[in-house]
Amino acid sequence: MPNEKIAELREKTKKIMLGGGQMSVDKQHKNGKLTARERITKLLDENSFVELDAFVEHRCANFGMEKKSAPGEGVVSGYGTIDGRLVYIYAQDFTVIGGSLGEMHAAKIVKAQQMAIKVGAPLIGINDSGGARIQEGVDALSGYGKIFYNNTLASGVIPQISVILGPCAGGAVYSPALTDFIFMVQNVSKMFITGPNVIKTVTGEVVSGEKLGGAMTHNSISGVAHFVDDSEGECMRHIRKLLTFLPQNNLETAPAKEVNDDLNRIDESLNDIIPENPNKAYDMKDVIYSIADDKEFMEYQPCYALNIVTGFMRLNGRSIGVIASQPKALAGCLDINASDKAARFIRTCDAFNIPLLTLMDVPGFLPGTHQEYGGIIRHGAKMLYAYSEATVPKVTVITRKAYGGSYIAMCNKELGADMVLAWPTAEIAVMGPEGAANIIFKKDIEISEDKDKTRRNKIEEYRNTVANPYIAAARGYVDAVIEPSQTRKRIISSFDMLTSKRVLKPEKKHGNIPL
Ligand code: HXC
Repeated sequence: MPNEKIAELREKTKKIMLGGGQMSVDKQHKNGKLTARERITKLLDENSFVELDAFVEHRCANFGMEKKSAPGEGVVSGYGTIDGRLVYIYAQDFTVIGGSLGEMHAAKIVKAQQMAIKVGAPLIGINDSGGARIQEGVDALSGYGKIFYNNTLASGVIPQISVILGPCAGGAVYSPALTDFIFMVQNVSKMFITGPNVIKTVTGEVVSGEKLGGAMTHNSISGVAHFVDDSEGECMRHIRKLLTFLPQNNLETAPAKEVNDDLNRIDESLNDIIPENPNKAYDMKDVIYSIADDKEFMEYQPCYALNIVTGFMRLNGRSIGVIASQPKALAGCLDINASDKAARFIRTCDAFNIPLLTLMDVPGFLPGTHQEYGGIIRHGAKMLYAYSEATVPKVTVITRKAYGGSYIAMCNKELGADMVLAWPTAEIAVMGPEGAANIIFKKDIEISEDKDKTRRNKIEEYRNTVANPYIAAARGYVDAVIEPSQTRKRIISSFDMLTSKRVLKPEKKHGNIPL
């Protein structure tokens, strides 16, 4: 081959590798951000990245764009490996026209999406973009439409992970919103439909970008994002860890990890974890850590709806999704946000063949006009729906309260729990003893001379008669009443037994989850 051909290829490649040029790269670094290629290098296994479509160019001729080159079209795409497993990836390059998305930029992302679906590999999108490239008009909007369509096509087929590492506005936030997991980094990531300037113009409201759409806003208030990290490096490690809990696609299971932890490990401290006073809280995370292999747990949405804890652990080396009431927050009540968080997590796990472990200590749905006006009926129904449609193995452990509708919403037997284990402290009833006694013994209390004493006695009578696990166990709604110390062993045995679970469902186009 003539040397000049090789030289030409090298020259062209070198130019593309510089992205928007040294000045833009310096600006990116000055803003505390890595460049698109640096991010990919940090995330993937060393030397594993294979870039595709580096020579793609835009064909816009509006507003002088015909004279403007956009190396790589503002997005770096290709494939590589994480822990030796194939992933497809794209990273928007803010140094090139602000990572804005035009027709050909979108075409590169769509190609990565379609390849990832075809080969059944996770897709990671690193977003750092000013949104639709304004000069390209409807071509840019068409590009977004194609990306959203393919996000939806890929949903439930391959894991889709979005990483927000810059200001993402307009269309740039909707593709992440259609994916399974969103990572954000403090002081780097921002997501909003309309930025602070537009808001000020339209409504007069003054708000900073960070407050409007920063990492904590979306991790703790809106619930749009699932994970938050302090730095880009930490975020990359976090993504690699998440992938260890996920399969490559919906036809596989997550890779099993070699277990060093004792499968029959007994934890005597669990026998004492439930306080004497039923109104006193304890930390359900202590139970989670106690059960998990090597006491390892990766929490999902750790800053949002703290009354329910969700995340991944391993049991006997296999990836398990955990949904747990948290008595420490709102007494573990289910509310709108907790229902949304749990339902979404349940569906994510079920889509990717990750069995579900539910730890229940739930006094009910949170009462009040705020919840009713906000549609708790509709949101709570998402949990009923998500658990009912999930076909993965489902194991439920009732540690204490299991009252009313929330007992069902936390996956009781009828919602499809394959194994329900109860601690001796479980109270399975239509409502808590206080509420129940006040209703059914109303007259006895009213006519008694010492109303408080009668009420206390009646509450105790109700608790002793109804609020225990043995009535449910007598009907087979509970499969076994177990010593808390044995919980890990019993759950592992249940999931081992359920490995070959098969479910046949009536054919349908798709269900209609209440949204
Ligand atoms: C074209 C853009 C651009 C865009 C940024 N740039 N956004 N070019 N289209 N959407 C260019 C800038 O002109 C600039 O070019 C370079 O990128 C860097 O941008 P700066 O403004 O200098 O950077 P910074 O100060 O960090 O501000 C970043 C920003 C801001 C917050 C993202 O650029 C911004 O507000 N952009 C517009 C955001 C937006 O409203 N997008 C449209 C959303 S509507 P030079 O040449 O000066 O370096 C949308 C519709 C899709 O997306 C809807 C689908 C549902």
